[in-house]
Amino acid sequence: MNAPVPPPAETLRHSLATLLDGLPPRQAAQAVDRLIATYRGATPTHTPILRDRADVAAYAAYRMPATFEAVHAALEAFAQAVPEWTPGSHTDVGGGTGAATWAVTATWPGERGVTVLDWAEPALAIGREIAAANPALKDARWHRARIGSALTLDPTDLVTVSYVLNELTAPDRTTLVDTIASAAQAVVIVEPGTPDGYTRVIEARDRLITAGFRIAAPCPHSAACPIVPGTDWCHFSARVSRSSLHRQIKGGSLPYEDEKFAYVAATRLPVTPAPARVVRKPQIRKGQVLLDLCETEPSLRRTTITKRHGDLYKAARDADWGDAWPPASD
Ligand SMILES: C[S@@+](CC[C@H](N)C(=O)[O-])C[C@H]1O[C@@H](n2cnc3c(N)ncnc32)[C@H](O)[C@@H]1O
Repeated sequence: MNAPVPPPAETLRHSLATLLDGLPPRQAAQAVDRLIATYRGATPTHTPILRDRADVAAYAAYRMPATFEAVHAALEAFAQAVPEWTPGSHTDVGGGTGAATWAVTATWPGERGVTVLDWAEPALAIGREIAAANPALKDARWHRARIGSALTLDPTDLVTVSYVLNELTAPDRTTLVDTIASAAQAVVIVEPGTPDGYTRVIEARDRLITAGFRIAAPCPHSAACPIVPGTDWCHFSARVSRSSLHRQIKGGSLPYEDEKFAYVAATRLPVTPAPARVVRKPQIRKGQVLLDLCETEPSLRRTTITKRHGDLYKAARDADWGDAWPPASD
C-alpha cells in the first residue's frame, strides 16, 4: 500500500524548515528585521525588495506560511461558489516564492500548468527549490517578469495576485487588473487585511466587474460594497502555526498567530455565491450567537440565532468568521 501523501501545508512547512537549515539563525533574524522595516517604509519600490538568497529564505520562512493560509482560505471560499470547476492552468503574478501555487494545489489537488511570474530572480529560484517537494508543482515554470504596461499573459484558467498590489504604483495596479481580466477565467486577489489593503481590493473588484466578471467571494453579490468608505473595512482571518523562526523573532509562546487578509475572487464562469457571509468573528453568548452578515441585498446586518432555531443554532455555534451563511447542506 502507498504511504498517505501529507497535505501541502505540512510539506510546505517541512520544506521551509529545511531551507533555513543552511542559514545561521542570527542572519535569518536580521534579514527578517530588514524586510519588516522595508515593508513598513514607502512601497512601491523601483527595484525588488527581495535582493538575495538570505532575504528570500527569511521572507519564505517568515511570511510564506501566512500568505499560503490566507490565499488558501480565499480559494476555498471561491471553490464553494464554483463547485463543479477545477482550474486546468494557473498563473501566479508577483508570485515570489510561490505561496499561492501551494494554496491552489491544497484547494484543487493534482497537476496543472503552473506559471509563476516575478521580477525577483532569487525569489523564483527559492520558490522552485521549495516546490520540488510538491509533486503537483514539479513542472511549474518560474519566469522573470516585471509587472507594468509591458506585461503580457498567456490565456489561463486562474490568476492569483497575492500580497502584490501593495507594492505597485496606482497606474501599475490598474494595468495589472486589466491584464489579468483579459487573460483569465477566474481571478483571486489577496491583500493584507488593513483598511488600505481593503481599499485596493475594492478598486480591483470594481474594475473586474466593469470587465464583465462576477464576484464569487467573499461578497454574496456583484453590486457595490455596502461599507461606507472610511468607516470600516472588510477583512478575514486565517490561523497560522508559528515556525521556530517566528517564535525566535516575535517571542511569545503562542503556537499560532492569526493572519488578517482582504480578498476578492471573481470569475467569468457561472457562479453561485454564498447567500450571506459572516464578516466578523461570531459572538457566542449564553443560548445565542450574534452573527454579522453581508447579505445579497446588499446590506450589512447583525442577526441573533438562539436555541429556539434548533439546528441553525448548532450551525451558528460552529460558524467561523469568513464562512458562508447559512452553511450549505450536504
Ligand atoms: C509580499 S511579496 C508576495 C509574494 C507571494 N505572492 C506571496 O503571497 O507570498 C510581493 C512580491 O511581488 C513582487 N513584485 C513587486 N513588484 C513587482 C513588479 N513590479 N514586477 C514583478 N514582481 C513584483 C516581489 O518581488 C515579491 O515577490
